[in-house]
Amino acid sequence: MRQINKDVRVVEVGPRDGFQNVKVFIPTEKKIEMIETVIDAGVKEMEITSFVSPKAIPQMADAKEVVGTIKARQHKDLFLTALVPNLFGARVALEMKMDAINFVISVSESHNKENVRHTIDESFAELERIVNEYSNVQGAPHLILSLPTTFGCPFEGPQPVSKVINMVRRGMDLGIRRFIFSDTIGVANPLQVESFFEEIFATLPSGLELGLHLHDTRGMALANAFAALSFPINSLESSFGGFGGCPFAPGAAGNVATEDLVNMLENLGVPTGIDIKKLVKAALELAKFAPDALNSHMTRVLTGKAAPCGL
Ligand code: COA
Ligand code: ZN
Repeated sequence: MRQINKDVRVVEVGPRDGFQNVKVFIPTEKKIEMIETVIDAGVKEMEITSFVSPKAIPQMADAKEVVGTIKARQHKDLFLTALVPNLFGARVALEMKMDAINFVISVSESHNKENVRHTIDESFAELERIVNEYSNVQGAPHLILSLPTTFGCPFEGPQPVSKVINMVRRGMDLGIRRFIFSDTIGVANPLQVESFFEEIFATLPSGLELGLHLHDTRGMALANAFAALSFPINSLESSFGGFGGCPFAPGAAGNVATEDLVNMLENLGVPTGIDIKKLVKAALELAKFAPDALNSHMTRVLTGKAAPCGL
């Protein structure tokens, strides 16, 4: 039988990827309530927000308040990260004592330009400034390099793996050890994921921490997660309720739902420590703000909207 990696962590990105795509402003206290429900469900790592321009992403205008409230509650064993596009955001992350920042640089030049208004080289220069600034501060956030459009770009199409590897190497030269490969527009297929990781693990040195960020635009996200489990990756990223999407990537839709990913992992014998019912509670809450974007099999199952087995 096929051997799968049973040591993979589920990273919840709903409070960033999910919230950012909801058009109506979600009141701060509602955001906090949903985040608390997800923490209560047993999530141990969460991308809780992004420190970005409120003109670019109005939904994140209350990022500091959300983070400040959750951090003040001092949850045990909870690793909190925030997406950051520039030095400005990295300074806020430092001030908010984040455990880590996810610095984003898209693999495709045109998506990086749309998303953060920088060329890839400019983004790396900005990352270097952050590395230098953080290196003087004890307890500064860890650095994670997130690579949107790894598996395809809405403007440029498929991206060669060599380009991704080159970006990882540039990150490594700056001392970064953790990387997230993002299927921003949900175009990857399981065989592509398999050949991608074959090349990654054959080329890059061991000792890196690698994660996969999945969108379900074309219904392939769980299959892609399964394909990735053949490799010693460290994390899979998902969003409660299957909300999500990049406002700067036309056609991008929600992430794979965390409750669906957890359900699959548990069925495969991969322990997650996460309570699906509580995730569904948070998903139904978020659905009040974006009912059409709910994309969760387990929510349908647990609310009785899925047909009972076999009927
Ligand atoms: N957080 C908050 N405000 C920020 C900021 C940050 N990280 N970075 C810049 N700003 C503010 C500036 O202070 C400036 O404010 P002002 O107009 O009141 O003077 C304004 O935003 C414009 O600054 P500038 O440096 O010219 O940025 P820009 O307009 O070129 O936009 C980004 C660049 C990166 C700030 C913006 O594109 C962005 O936030 N993108 C985020 C994209 C994202 O989150 N995508 C989804 C996830 S992949
Ligand atoms: Zn995403």
